[in-house]
Amino acid sequence: MTYFAVLGKTPELSLAELQLVQPTNIQTEWSLVFFKTQCPERIWQLWGIIKRGEVVDESQLKTSLQAKKLPIVWVDSNELGLMIKRNYGIRRYKVLEGWKTDLEIKRKWAEVFALWDGRYGLVTWWQDVDMYSAIDFDKPAAGMQIGMMPAKLTHILVNIWVSQTTADIPTIWDPFCGFGTTNFVANHLGYYTIWSDINITPTKQNLKRWKTHELHQEEGLITLFKHDVNDEFTKPFLDKVDVIVTEWRLGPVVKQEMLKHKNQTHTILKDNLWSIVELYSAFLTNTKKAVPHVPIVMTVPEYLRLDHPIISDRITEAATELGYTVTPTWEVYQRKWQQVGRRVLVLR
Ligand SMILES: C[S@@+](CC[C@H](N)C(=O)[O-])C[C@H]1O[C@@H](n2cnc3c(N)ncnc32)[C@H](O)[C@@H]1O
Repeated sequence: MTYFAVLGKTPELSLAELQLVQPTNIQTEWSLVFFKTQCPERIWQLWGIIKRGEVVDESQLKTSLQAKKLPIVWVDSNELGLMIKRNYGIRRYKVLEGWKTDLEIKRKWAEVFALWDGRYGLVTWWQDVDMYSAIDFDKPAAGMQIGMMPAKLTHILVNIWVSQTTADIPTIWDPFCGFGTTNFVANHLGYYTIWSDINITPTKQNLKRWKTHELHQEEGLITLFKHDVNDEFTKPFLDKVDVIVTEWRLGPVVKQEMLKHKNQTHTILKDNLWSIVELYSAFLTNTKKAVPHVPIVMTVPEYLRLDHPIISDRITEAATELGYTVTPTWEVYQRKWQQVGRRVLVLR
């Protein structure tokens, strides 16, 4: 079976995430990726993609579409629509750009891509934005001001790391767990989670609610403790950690009007940079002491108006001095309206 997927806006991260299913015969073409997999049972866990499906030939396509008795089919080109209408007795078709998703399609129709040499891509899954909304917004304590890690990005980061561990049930630790995004995602995937933060009051509130949520996985062990990263980590259970996935904060709030001139952005950052880097350095010094072999995947703020990634550069310097090898992604994860994006740093 050959699968195909439409990559998201961050194809580098999506392709790294794909390693979770141990893909073979990978080919990419524009924003499409084709692959076979040794772990089809893990495919449901991929979320860095927008949609995915199976590559089929014309007779499989015909059987599948006719079995569904659909009055209408969504296609990525007019030629394909005409062919389907003419040959398969489907009454109507609509053309939709491949990277777009329509709720109606998800609920009721089939979606087909024309590929090559009589091959077609039949979509079988679309990204479940409802789950992300549930994790991002459906919690008693939340704070867009201090920043929450987007659930989708967290999901991709967890997957990237799980694909590199041999642990049966990986343990994921977020030392700035805040409102709990990393831990909710990891728990939903069935993993063990360790949560810590200097202030665990909102975390406790959210955790209580999470335990009643339909996405919560009962069997995923959860350990929560209060901790300031400036202090040494001494909890013995930390030796169970396979990976740290975290984000501290996106730095000072940068408003649109402050960004008209680069100089202003520089000034805002200069005033804050020292304290940001100091906290990251303390955190990394203490993780290096307590869990020296545990990799860290973290996001750091990237000020989109500046030509230079000043925060990630400083953190990279500090981490390298401590003996970590740092690999930054070239992509910056950002939403349309944001002035500050997130760059992913992987520390080993
Ligand atoms: C932006 S929030 C993290 C949000 C979290 N990633 C999420 O998506 O829910 C930053 C967190 O860092 C915590 N924090 C700040 N200083 C800290 C310190 N010195 N030690 C541990 N946690 C700290 C704050 O309490 C806050 O919960």
